[in-house]
Amino acid sequence: MPKIARTSRGAAARKTPPVVRARNLLGLQGIDKDVLLSLLVRARGFSLDTRAVGAPWNHSLRGTTVANLFFEDSTRTRTSFSMAAARLGANVLEFGASTSSVSKGETLIDTALNVQAMGVNCMVVRAKQSGAAAMIANHVNCAVINAGDGRHEHPTQGLLDIFTIAQSFKRDDFDLSGLTVAIVGDVFNSRVARSAIAGMKLLGAKLICIGPPSMAPKSLESLGCKVESNFDAIVPKADAIMMLRVQFERSSDATPGAEKKISPIPSSREYRDGFALTPDRAAKMKPGAIVMHPGPMNRGLEIDAAVADGPRSVILQQAANGVFCRMAAIESCVGNI
Ligand code: CP
Repeated sequence: MPKIARTSRGAAARKTPPVVRARNLLGLQGIDKDVLLSLLVRARGFSLDTRAVGAPWNHSLRGTTVANLFFEDSTRTRTSFSMAAARLGANVLEFGASTSSVSKGETLIDTALNVQAMGVNCMVVRAKQSGAAAMIANHVNCAVINAGDGRHEHPTQGLLDIFTIAQSFKRDDFDLSGLTVAIVGDVFNSRVARSAIAGMKLLGAKLICIGPPSMAPKSLESLGCKVESNFDAIVPKADAIMMLRVQFERSSDATPGAEKKISPIPSSREYRDGFALTPDRAAKMKPGAIVMHPGPMNRGLEIDAAVADGPRSVILQQAANGVFCRMAAIESCVGNI
């Protein structure tokens, strides 16, 4: 890993940077701050690389294989992990559950063990079960990176969200103190929010979660954030507003075996009245404040197109930064550096 050159405002630069490297990246809750900073600094190094997009940017992982084990759908995470591994010179093994023997009942662990037997150095795991990546990590001897597990964590999303905020506010040292980040909407179901809260809090940001009580219950305060229900009161105070998708796919009839999905919101109009980021609300944001969304977006529900595509939006920067952060994560975990 690179040396950490911290230039935090008011803090003395380190003389002897620690050697920090993670074998697995399963979450940001409880992560060592030096590991987090090392990943972010390394991601910044990749972001500043000016070589042509598409070419391997370095060959540190040449001869290694990274397997994308996606048991749940993805656009951004999967493609950016593939691109990140390719830019590091690694071979990429793509696995999609819908075209695999998972459809015949094979378990996640059997799937992982069989893929490992073919000789992979790192598995990138996405699954709908919370704890799935950690469970696989307990059974395999290669590196494991959590690419989103149920409602639990999405650590590389947390990294890219921190990276994007630091980039937007020119916090070269990744010190986020003095910044207020509002996370709005379906927080309860959000692994993105859990990783963002853990990582941003560690770096000094103030976190406020906002939503209806079913989506932003007070119990979330145990994560280290505040919980509010009046979005309009928070809009002018936030430096970054991170809108979350209403996760229709995670709401189902509680009856055992029921397939029926039930809507997590009583009405779109009521939800929008309270919690949508509309142009009117965006106009009341602080000068310089930014709009974020991890994607995929429900345009016209939690965020309006004029805001998502507007001048405050850093949503596509988030997607771009995902590649750099995932390069840093893979490089750190595979350790061939
Ligand atoms: N933000 C995110 O995880 O998007 P995907 O589901 O498309 O990977």
